[in-house]
Amino acid sequence: MATPKSILFVCLGNICRSPAAEGIMRSIATDSDITIDSAGTGGYHIGQLPDKRMRIHASQRGLRLDHHCRQVSPSDFEDFDLIIGMDGSNIANLRRIAPSPEAEKKIHAMAEYFNPSTRWDHVPDPYYEGAEGFELVLDLLEEGCQNLFNQITTGK
Ligand code: 4NP
Repeated sequence: MATPKSILFVCLGNICRSPAAEGIMRSIATDSDITIDSAGTGGYHIGQLPDKRMRIHASQRGLRLDHHCRQVSPSDFEDFDLIIGMDGSNIANLRRIAPSPEAEKKIHAMAEYFNPSTRWDHVPDPYYEGAEGFELVLDLLEEGCQNLFNQITTGK
């Protein structure tokens, strides 16, 4: 594939993990022309700002999360080059939404971009967790987004 120019991060609710990934990638890719957005496979929180706990933890790292929740749609597969799911359930749902086998090839797991030494194969849902859950998500996303950005910009 040609160098990706647009990335959509996807989780279940679009109020914790994917808006955090969007905010982190925006902060890393400030000087690039990459389009970045996020969406959820579920429709429970449409229109809402990210979960207050995630906004607080992100703000402690200098990130302001102001995305408004929206649901993934088949047209996202036309609008974005890379569609990145946070866990296996997100990926399975994205495969169902993908309008064609070609579109399905745009789906990737966030964990593909973790450091080899990282002992996680997904970004765990922090919704029913405490502060450590939110911190873990932010740690994993900072690592994964930086590696993804490096991969895109070096073309490797
Ligand atoms: P997210 O977390 O998928 O990272 O945004 C969740 C947010 C809300 C719910 C589940 C997960 N929920 O069930 O409402």
